Amino acid sequence: ARAPGQAAAPAGTLAALNAEAMACTRCPLHAPATQTVFGEGPQDAAVMIVGEQPGDMEDLAGRPFVGPAGKVFDAALAAAGIDRAGLYLTNAVKHFKYELRGKRRIHQRPNTGEVQHCRFWLSREIELVQPKLVVAMGATALSALTETRHKLADIRGEPIAMKGGRMLFVTVHPSYLLRIPDEGKRAEEVERFHRDMGEVGRLA
Ligand code: URA
Repeated sequence: ARAPGQAAAPAGTLAALNAEAMACTRCPLHAPATQTVFGEGPQDAAVMIVGEQPGDMEDLAGRPFVGPAGKVFDAALAAAGIDRAGLYLTNAVKHFKYELRGKRRIHQRPNTGEVQHCRFWLSREIELVQPKLVVAMGATALSALTETRHKLADIRGEPIAMKGGRMLFVTVHPSYLLRIPDEGKRAEEVERFHRDMGEVGRLA
């Protein structure tokens, strides 16, 4: 929300879109969440990274990828030599969806309807930023970005053409890596995620 006396951001900017999204009630997820977690990054970013939805820490901080998945993501960026500040980082869904278990808020995957409602914001972010490359991290981001039903594993790691002359690059979601119980397998998958990010750096 805008503080009293604070001027409205000029129309057609990310700041104006962000302010508009803060008051979003397009789907019921806004009610239990702390706040809208909008995308962040420069409006002229060449690369837009799309995750699933904010987690517990992002919901509290009001910023994307600042929790455990964000740490995995940051490590991959460091390995690939990519500066996070140059990217536009956002999520398919802008509110944290969770189930209360005692005091813990357990992440729930957003459903198709929620992804569809929130596509309103994602499409407007893409229109404003006009990224050359859009990176979908995980199946939810992929379904938000394409109408065709692709299996993530079939198109991972290869750029594909999108509407508007953009490229879409698909990789796994960093949370997936955190959930792999076997250490050896996890290390392999982390390595592959780092290689994917290296490819993002080359394509950018
Ligand atoms: N997972 C996401 O998909 N996005 C975030 O912002 C944090 C965790």
